This record gives sequence, C-alpha cells and structure tokens, in this order.
Amino acid sequence: MYFDIDKLDQKLSYKLLASSIVPRPIAWVVTCDDSGRPNAAPYSFFNFFSGFPPVICIGMGLQRGEPKDSYANIKASREFVVNLVPSDLAEEMNTTAVPFPRTVNELEVAGLATTSSTKVRPPRIERSPVALECRLNQVIPVDTTGVILVAHVVAVHIKDEAVVNAEKCYLDPSKLDLLGRMESPGWYTHTRERFKMKQLGVEEWERKEKEG
Ligand SMILES: Cc1cc2nc3c(=O)[nH]c(=O)nc-3n(C[C@H](O)[C@H](O)[C@H](O)COP(=O)(O)O)c2cc1C
Repeated sequence: MYFDIDKLDQKLSYKLLASSIVPRPIAWVVTCDDSGRPNAAPYSFFNFFSGFPPVICIGMGLQRGEPKDSYANIKASREFVVNLVPSDLAEEMNTTAVPFPRTVNELEVAGLATTSSTKVRPPRIERSPVALECRLNQVIPVDTTGVILVAHVVAVHIKDEAVVNAEKCYLDPSKLDLLGRMESPGWYTHTRERFKMKQLGVEEWERKEKEG
C-alpha cells in the first residue's frame, strides 16, 4: 500500500515509521543536571553511525513544547551514558519513561543501582550489560519538533560474561539478551533468535552461482 507521507500529520507520520522501522535498539540515557542529580529515560531513535571514530546519534522530541530533561541536561553538560536494555530490566526501563517532574531521579524510582563512569560525570546502570560513555559533538535541529544529537563514544563497558576475546573485541551478543523496540504503543522484541550469513565478495558470489 502506498502512503503519501507529505499528507500525514505528526502523529500518523510517527506511527507509520515507528511501526515499519523495527526493531530499534533502545538507548537508556543517563544524564546529570547542574547539581549532579541523575536522570534516566529510554530513547529508541538511536543507533551508531560510525565505528571509527565511534559516533552515535539519538533523536529527542519535545514534551509539551519543551526540551525533555535528558536533552536539557546534555545541552548543559555535553555528557551522557547510553546503557542498553537487557530483557530482565524491561519493567525498570518502562518506569524511567514516565514523564516525572525534572527533580525526580527515575533511577531511584525504578530501584536501579548505578556505578561510576570512567570519563564522564553521569553514572551507568549497574545491571546494564553495555554502557557507552558519550560526549556531545553536534546538535541538529529537526524543524520545530526536536533535535538529533550526534555524540562520540569515549568509553565502553561490556559485561564480562559476553566477552569471548577481549583483545580481538569478539563478543557473544546472545549473552547480552538485549531488547528491541517494535511498534507503538508498547511492543518489544527479544534478540535471542538469529542466523548467520556471510557477506560475499564478487568472486565468492560467482562461485556460489556456479555451484547452484
Ligand atoms: C522504549 C521507549 C523508547 C522511546 N524513544 C524515544 C525517542 O527515541 N525519542 C523521544 O523523544 N522519546 C522517546 N521515548 C519517550 C521518552 O522516554 C519519554 O518522553 C521520557 O519521559 C523522557 O524523559 P526525560 O524528560 O527524563 O528525558 C521513548 C519511550 C520508550 C518507552
């Protein structure tokens, strides 16, 4: 079916894309305000766009016309931590998405312990199997509806159990048991089921064609 997205309003345009561009990884963003009080919230307009230099982007919308707390904190401090969400923390992640007032520490409300980061002020979530310490590089405004943050990853923490060979950075992602976000409202997927397929060069592809 054809959809002329130019004719859709903000809500429908979001719905169409958020239901078709799936699954999306979830950046569980921890920031600090001026006084050092942490804030946490999930963001699924997220991915990495360069491995070297290590660059990630996150899309943050507005809440009642105002920047969300995560963006307000990142704009001021230029630092944050992206934690990835394992399936056993789904409920806790969901709790941190509640639009509490700015003074509320969602990590405390969700009962999540944190541990110090290495290079940035915001802490990381102790039970998250992947934490990326990030520094803001660029803010790209998206019309009047939000911003895209471009950031460098400055430190990476992976839970020991998922590291197969540290020197070669060889991980076993099945041990991370991460969640992906599906369509709204409220659908998620596990990342436990996978299959392997090698990317081919021209010669390999020709050989495969000949072999039938
Ligand atoms: C799984 C999930 C993914 C989300 N992704 C985004 C996103 O990519 N961009 C966004 O603006 N809001 C997103 N939200 C909504 C924010 O998490 C929500 O507005 C939150 O209250 C923002 O908190 P903050 O003001 O503390 O930053 C998402 C919510 C959930 C549950």
